[in-house]
Amino acid sequence: MDKLIISKSKPLSGEIKVSGAKNSVLKILAATLLTDEECVIEDVPDLLDVRVMLDLLKSLGSDVRYYPEENRVVTKVVDSSITDASYELTNKMRASIVVMGPLLAKRKRANVSYPGGCAIGARPIDLHLKGFRALGVDVHLGHGFVEAKVNGNMKGNTVYLDFPSVGATENIMLAATLADGVTVIENAAQEPEISDLAMFLIKMGAKISGAGTSNIRITGVKKLRGVTHQVIPDRIEAGTYIIAVAMTKGRAKIDNVVPKHLSPLLSKLEEAGVKFKKDGNGIIVDAREGFTGVDVTTLPYPGFPTDLQSQFMVFLCLCKGSNTIKETIFENRFMFVSELARMGAKIKTDSSTAEVYEIPELEGAIVRATDLRAGAALVLAGLVASGETQVLDVYHIDRGFVDIEEKLNKLGANIKRIKG
Ligand code: EPZ
Repeated sequence: MDKLIISKSKPLSGEIKVSGAKNSVLKILAATLLTDEECVIEDVPDLLDVRVMLDLLKSLGSDVRYYPEENRVVTKVVDSSITDASYELTNKMRASIVVMGPLLAKRKRANVSYPGGCAIGARPIDLHLKGFRALGVDVHLGHGFVEAKVNGNMKGNTVYLDFPSVGATENIMLAATLADGVTVIENAAQEPEISDLAMFLIKMGAKISGAGTSNIRITGVKKLRGVTHQVIPDRIEAGTYIIAVAMTKGRAKIDNVVPKHLSPLLSKLEEAGVKFKKDGNGIIVDAREGFTGVDVTTLPYPGFPTDLQSQFMVFLCLCKGSNTIKETIFENRFMFVSELARMGAKIKTDSSTAEVYEIPELEGAIVRATDLRAGAALVLAGLVASGETQVLDVYHIDRGFVDIEEKLNKLGANIKRIKG
């Protein structure tokens, strides 16, 4: 398996461009199952998770052409009789569950492997299934699979989500596009990726209002058409590089960002003393004058994203005194704290709170990526640690970051990939 060797970096400077959003494109690719016409998706990042979704679409009867050098995918359903999603593929990636909504809407049946436990928490799918049931779907759980089927069309209904789950909101929205009548999702998730998916569906002919708010209304239509769509920039990739520049007390431009999508992070960093300036489609981060510590609590959007929590924790290791992180979304997202401790970090955790204490300097060590975002956080730690840091199990990072070492090296970092 590949590993990354990271030397302590000087302050980062220069300019890099953010790729298309992983968590947007995965759902948009699933949505292409809702039409028999050709769809063209642009700004598709070349990531392991995207490759899994493309294989899943192929296994479900789509003709898929991927042009990674142009970041473009062209898909067209050629066989709509398949309703069983392959165990090997769905088991590799939890986001595969989002093919259920389109399969139910178009093919009236979906048989998908039940997503197992995950490194960052139990992550059940009860809210997805509650939504499907409310639309008239018969759901059966057994032998590690969830089998769902519906007689004729689904019937619109009001679904209240006990928690604003991103995946459940997307799956129910996808399912409701072709249902009879009106579906209302109450307490819906408001993440930018949901608005992007809704935008794609609206171009296809869906009737959706309120995406990006906690109340989404979908009026079912008879048919959806093929369209071309460019996915939004990845706010988590952008946020990771913004934190990297800040931590090294650098000044650099992160291009292709939507500042509004980043405001939960930018406002916290501004509170800590980091400066930002909009510049074209990008943002200039300036931390040359240093920073102080702040406390953060992760929350559903527009709160502070859980997907930036690990990276922010590394930043806080460099801040004066002690600062608190409260994680409210996933129960196991402090797993990587023990890896960070191997680099000399002083962090006290209970189930949902981490107290991060100031240390003079992180020290390079051999550490293991425990999940995608934690892996990126360890790379950031390597940028400010003395000596050499080796990050193992880099495949976690490759699931969600395009060429992480190349992008950071472009800003002046010194990271080498050793192929395993
Ligand atoms: C999405 O996961 C993202 N993944 C995650 O990013 C992100 O961390 C998360 O949203 C929160 O923002 C993708 O978009 C592919 P949720 P998702 O359903 O949809 C509980 C990354 O690193 N819950 O909003 O799975 C759940 O256990 C990944 O890119 C239920 O209880 O997240 C969790 O505690 C990691 N029942 C909370 O809700 C359900 O039916 C949030 O989960 C569904 C969820």
